[in-house]
Amino acid sequence: GTALGATAAETGRYFGAAVAVNKLSDSVYVGILNREFTMVTAENEMKWDATEPNPNQFTYTGGDRLVSHAQANGMRVRGHALAWHQQQPRWTSVLSGSALRSAMINHVTQVATHYRGKIYAWDVVNEAFADGGSGGRRDSNLQRTGDDWIEAAFRAARAADPGAKLCYNDYYTDGQNAKSNGVYAMVQDFKARGVPIDCVGFQSHFTGQSPVPSDHQANLQRFVDLGVEVQITELDIEGSGSSQTDSYSRVVRACLAISRCTGITVSGIRDTDSWRASATPLLFDGNGNKKAAYTSTLNALNAG
Ligand code: G3I
Repeated sequence: GTALGATAAETGRYFGAAVAVNKLSDSVYVGILNREFTMVTAENEMKWDATEPNPNQFTYTGGDRLVSHAQANGMRVRGHALAWHQQQPRWTSVLSGSALRSAMINHVTQVATHYRGKIYAWDVVNEAFADGGSGGRRDSNLQRTGDDWIEAAFRAARAADPGAKLCYNDYYTDGQNAKSNGVYAMVQDFKARGVPIDCVGFQSHFTGQSPVPSDHQANLQRFVDLGVEVQITELDIEGSGSSQTDSYSRVVRACLAISRCTGITVSGIRDTDSWRASATPLLFDGNGNKKAAYTSTLNALNAG
């Protein structure tokens, strides 16, 4: 194939991008989006602070624009993110305990209901595990409502939109380490107890300090072996030249080697659109030209 999404589709996968809805008026940006990508994720517009600025008062303007754009152009949508310790609306900061738990469950229910039938997969819970060696949960206001907050969020999401795949999404979980072991144990426990979970998202923010690990494919495979699908959800790779091109092709090859690795999403379109633009981590330069990393990604998709 000659475009990322169409080529990924040849093996039954998608190739997506995180989209900032206010850039849908930029013709270079939209031209690349429509030509290359078959899945979109809202970079910020479906998050708690954006969708529920006041208690139980919902605004879906940005997310709805993204869904319409996707539907009009034959793309699917990954929903991001229902429950997360960051980008919460200001009003949640005074809540704790059962009041915060109820607000979180109501949020999950309302947003997943609004988008019912339009979402391929939801990041139901994002980044709930601690960095470092503990393998345990991250301390957060949501975690302090009780260890069962994650399964409560997944059950609420399933009830609201039974057709969406429900994912747990996190970063630095790409290789086998304490953090990914913690997530693995949670997924294993959820599967054993019938808590609804369908997929694990691996954000895949790679840097010089944190490159693609040598056991990347093996780590994805052990999650698939638990009975979930895996998705690369926010891929970006700091750097340039051959280290960047090699890393992109390694990630693509790892996903293609696993039948239940269903798709790859990059965290933006041009380097200048990135949440960490100085890392030049994406596939297109600031002018929208294809980088060498684009070519190596497309070649790896074509080799599948
Ligand atoms: O919209 C306001 C604008 O009105 C204001 O003038 C400006 C000044 O700072 O801020 C704008 O909001 C920013 C927003 O992005 C939209 O550009 C926020 O400050 C900024 O914090 C926010 O950053 C987002 C970040 O999540 C927040 O944690 C990034 O765009 C987004 O790419 C990033 O994405 C996360 C994923 O959701 C989860 N995984 C990690 C990833 C990177 O942090």
